[in-house]
Amino acid sequence: MTEQRFVHAQWSSRLAFILAASGSAIGLGNIWKFPYLAGDNGGGAFVLVYLLSVVAIGIPIMIAETMLGRRGRQSPINTMRTLAEEAKTSPLWCYTGWLGVIAGFLILSYYSVIAGWAMAYFFKINSALFEHIDAASSTRLFENFKASPEFLGIWHTFFMVATMFIVSRGVSGGLERLSRFMMPALLLMLLVLDVYAMNSGGFGQGLAFLFNPDFSKLTGAGVLVALGQAFFSLGLGMGSIMVYGSYLPSDVSIARSSLFVIAADTLVALLAGVAIFPLVFANGLSPAMGPGLIFETLPIAFGQMPGGWLFGMMFFALIFFAAITSSVALIEPAVAFLSENKRMDREKACLYSGLACWVAGLGTVFSFNLWSDVKWLDKTVYEWVDMLTAEIMLPIGGVLVAVFAGWIMSKADSESELKLQNPRHYQAWLILVRYVAPLGVALVFLDAMGLL
Ligand code: TRP
Repeated sequence: MTEQRFVHAQWSSRLAFILAASGSAIGLGNIWKFPYLAGDNGGGAFVLVYLLSVVAIGIPIMIAETMLGRRGRQSPINTMRTLAEEAKTSPLWCYTGWLGVIAGFLILSYYSVIAGWAMAYFFKINSALFEHIDAASSTRLFENFKASPEFLGIWHTFFMVATMFIVSRGVSGGLERLSRFMMPALLLMLLVLDVYAMNSGGFGQGLAFLFNPDFSKLTGAGVLVALGQAFFSLGLGMGSIMVYGSYLPSDVSIARSSLFVIAADTLVALLAGVAIFPLVFANGLSPAMGPGLIFETLPIAFGQMPGGWLFGMMFFALIFFAAITSSVALIEPAVAFLSENKRMDREKACLYSGLACWVAGLGTVFSFNLWSDVKWLDKTVYEWVDMLTAEIMLPIGGVLVAVFAGWIMSKADSESELKLQNPRHYQAWLILVRYVAPLGVALVFLDAMGLL
């Protein structure tokens, strides 16, 4: 086995890993998806369940997934195969890796479409149309944009080409440099929007909506959406963190790096929520407007701020960068697998996976126009892809990672890999991955099926 192992490059430092892992975690999930899901699912109670999932399930699984990656040092599929061999258990565990490759591929197919919206808005926002725009016109502009399969398709194409170009240039070249500057810039931009929101007249109402839990508004299905969002936002359960872990030098503390990434990711999501909901209420919009939420509300803020066109362009450019560092993580397991097993060169692996993903993404493009009435069980193609990935594949992938790390891998191995100085921390992690994470996910599934 060893001689077949593919030798990976490694991150130049702990900082490089943290930047790349936060690059993967922080993306459309924080800025676009979290606010719209919170809005659709009634606010506070949803946010609380999301935060609980991040802490009780996200933390142990992020540590577990990074650890498996570092120990296996290959693409998720081959990592799981090698580690299963090492633990003398069934090679079927490599299907965990497969699940991840498919989930990442499906997520990227729609992610690219939405990132395309951000690119389009970068160009739109400085047009006269957006100056002093009101809620009704902003909604109309977005609706018109969404109705055009050509526009959506073109931006989707641009985004996919950009992603695959970066992925084809490899780990240290493409990813590291990109992750370095945009994170602090994005944080700063969100703070500008938060300050604006404070003075928008809807701040109290916005905060109350986000942080005052009203459990009567949260359904069992909503609880599953919140759990799925925790996985999605942290980028867990499909092997992209496993791939990043596989590039991690062995002397870096996995737990500390993971906690940092999780804290940063959660902070960005909350700051985005705090920026959006005051604007929603100040402008008499509905929080439950679905995927268009930020595209309909933020232009109002940019249209009214002095120099708003400039802030707006900066903001959408930053969303684009945040999205692209996540996209790269989403497709990396597939590309890593193709280049390891099929002995394909990276360029070719990127070309094939990118092309297939682009075609799959057309399903999402059409969900917002030509096929908006094509529904199965009341869900469009986009809604199906989203539900299957975020609410089913990622939690299952995450639980498999937790079970493998907690139950299958020997304690000696996980202990030596994690190198936690305080034995109590190791015990706490073990309880979380062995019991809390798997049972938590199981309970949420049962609740969503109405069985609790
Ligand atoms: N976490 C990213 C976001 O919030 C998206 C992402 C990157 C992702 N890698 C992932 C989602 C792996 C699920 C699984 O936008």
